[in-house]
Amino acid sequence: MELILGQVLQFTNTPFDGRPEDAATHIRHGAVLVHDGTIADVGDADTLRAQYPTAQVTDMRDALLSPGFVDTHVHYPQTAIIASWGKRLIDWLNSYTFPEESRFGDADHATQIAETYFDLVTAAGTTTTVSYCTIHPESVDAYFTAAQKRGLRVLGGKTCMDRNAPDNLRDTAQSAYDDSKMLLDRWHGQDRLSYVITPRFAPTSTPEQLEALGALWAEHPDVLMQTHISEQHEEIAWVADLFPDAEDYLYVYEQFGLVGKGALLGHAIHLTERERDRIRELDASLIHCPTSNMFIGSGLFDMQGLVAQGHRIGLATDTGGGSSFSMLRTMAAAYEVGQLSGKALHPAQLWWLATAGSAQTIHMGDRIGRLAKGYEADIIAVDLKSTPAIAQRTDRAATIWEALFPTIMMGDDRAISAVWAGGQKIK
Ligand code: GUN
Ligand code: ZN
Repeated sequence: MELILGQVLQFTNTPFDGRPEDAATHIRHGAVLVHDGTIADVGDADTLRAQYPTAQVTDMRDALLSPGFVDTHVHYPQTAIIASWGKRLIDWLNSYTFPEESRFGDADHATQIAETYFDLVTAAGTTTTVSYCTIHPESVDAYFTAAQKRGLRVLGGKTCMDRNAPDNLRDTAQSAYDDSKMLLDRWHGQDRLSYVITPRFAPTSTPEQLEALGALWAEHPDVLMQTHISEQHEEIAWVADLFPDAEDYLYVYEQFGLVGKGALLGHAIHLTERERDRIRELDASLIHCPTSNMFIGSGLFDMQGLVAQGHRIGLATDTGGGSSFSMLRTMAAAYEVGQLSGKALHPAQLWWLATAGSAQTIHMGDRIGRLAKGYEADIIAVDLKSTPAIAQRTDRAATIWEALFPTIMMGDDRAISAVWAGGQKIK
């Protein structure tokens, strides 16, 4: 048993209903008790020390204890091409992404990048990732193997593409189905790993491939499905050309049974009213990727309007379209996008989106994303004074939210002083 001491922030509600600051309780001198990989108790430090006198104590002092961050849309194979200059989506895919992804049939390359990726994200406080791999089964094996070694709860799947991609990056409708099924059987439910059915996006799949993956999902309704939608205007026009009979982008997925509870729709910036209503009706999740949307020049996600409509929304880096591995930087970008859209997101809303909110979008809100009894012990200690610039601002803070906001806006991996995955300290 380990008793971790620090400030504790516990969300009891969504901060998008009512006053954001009322959604969480803050314990100034708090503690989290970890036993057998799960959180056994949370409360006041003195009380828990008295109650569990034999527990090994780890004192994080003034650091804020938080659930590890949950990054709901990433491309780990794009780790080494992050921050590639000067292109918009389609050119960016062709110039940078596809050449790099074509290397992942080499298991050694895939393993090396997966190791680097998890080193970077865990250092930045992320304990759950939902990743696109490449078309190669080797890329999926490398991803899950690296995560399993670290005891992480992660999700991911083989990216399927059978058109509009280079020869060496195309599968077929049948091989996409067969390989996805083989990998699902191999990995789904192993330790803390979950498979995700992954058609890249409508332009790179034939109707036959989307149909095959819709069929696979229908056979395995307990797994998630991830894809991209309505990220850039050029992409939307291309989809209209490729699928002339579909009334809109969403319908392309809808007609093949690819929209439903358990669908994770990345970007979702330029949705029509029909698409917004239908996504809500069919109970799919939307994933906001703010650094990517700005880096690739895609547009502003309508957080305020979509929240008001009752959408379930997660937050994600979308590396390497996104320009940071850090969910702190990603929260900052979400704040900036909110400002440009006329609505300042509260620090409670930002933090919730990066933890409990994102956990809900992947239907794991009952086991990760909160510091609460019975939850898995994926925990980070956040130093709220990690740099001189942040410290001099935090010194003036009157509330926990004021103390947290400078770290959201200016923090990086230096702010993450410790990380536990399933109760094991990994940083
Ligand atoms: N749309 C299809 N593939 C991708 C990708 O790899 N990154 C981003 N940002 N958008 C995509
Ligand atoms: Zn993406």
